[in-house]
Amino acid sequence: MKLGVVGKGGVGKTSLSGLLCQAYVARGKRVLAVDTDSNPNLAMSLGLDEKTANEAPLVPRKLVVGLGDGTLSPGALLAEYGLPTPSGVTLLHAMRIDQAGAGCSCADHYMVRSLLGTAIEEEADVTLVDMEAGLEHLSRSGGTLAYADVLLMIMEPTHKSVMTAGRTVPLARELGIPRIYGVGNKAKGEADVELFNRLSDEYGVPLATVVPWDADVPKCDRRGGPLFAGEAQPVRDAVERIIAVIENEDSERDALLAERDRIDARIAALQS
Ligand SMILES: Nc1ncnc2c1ncn2[C@@H]1O[C@H](COP(=O)(O)OP(=O)(O)OP(=O)(O)O)[C@@H](O)[C@H]1O
Ligand SMILES: [Mg+2]
Repeated sequence: MKLGVVGKGGVGKTSLSGLLCQAYVARGKRVLAVDTDSNPNLAMSLGLDEKTANEAPLVPRKLVVGLGDGTLSPGALLAEYGLPTPSGVTLLHAMRIDQAGAGCSCADHYMVRSLLGTAIEEEADVTLVDMEAGLEHLSRSGGTLAYADVLLMIMEPTHKSVMTAGRTVPLARELGIPRIYGVGNKAKGEADVELFNRLSDEYGVPLATVVPWDADVPKCDRRGGPLFAGEAQPVRDAVERIIAVIENEDSERDALLAERDRIDARIAALQS
């Protein structure tokens, strides 16, 4: 399962990415989180201290992940650059910048694209990419998220953030990402839920769920660490709903594929 988390600046991509990763760990999955922000901060949500996160070696530019000559295997990449975190999630800082004037980030985007395109499932059951704000992940280097299975477009109750999600849908479809969901975050009441439903319809954004605004999330940001156990329970419940939507479609798809195999087998038997 390869998940891309995208959306307009500040909508809650990193906060929800951290909780999604931890929910998958709680299900016994091996989880790799890829932070593609040039100013990464997912580490904090996963309980990694700032010093360790900042001192981790930078992934070299122009690195390509793969099994051929001149490439680095996913296992070797994670052994060298993967950061274990107290949450149990392995973290990769894909695009951290520590030098002014370092140039364009296309090569870094290509590295993430190549990582998602390899057999990363041998190293991680779930690979989640927390993207930098904007739409570049759909245009740079052949589409950073071209090999994602699921795209989660996070929105907040503003027209602009739903509009950004609306712009994302056709581009993501063009890239061939099979499953695309909107997630309305920071809802303060029924009026916000209604806004998400109305605008999602208008912009053609399929809404997976609405996540409530919860004071524990900014409180935890101010503290500079992960959410403590028991904090932001309504947000955690919403994260469970997102996973249930994804898994539900997985099992529906598996059932359809099994049905197709049964029909194929019957046709083969009739023809023989
Ligand atoms: N459900 C929520 N309830 C209340 N506040 C929230 C919620 N989700 C996120 N926030 C707050 O919104 C702000 C932005 O969150 P976050 O950093 O996760 O967004 P982002 O989309 O990753 O931002 P960026 O585009 O800068 O990467 C933070 O102050 C965070 O505490
Ligand atoms: Mg972020």
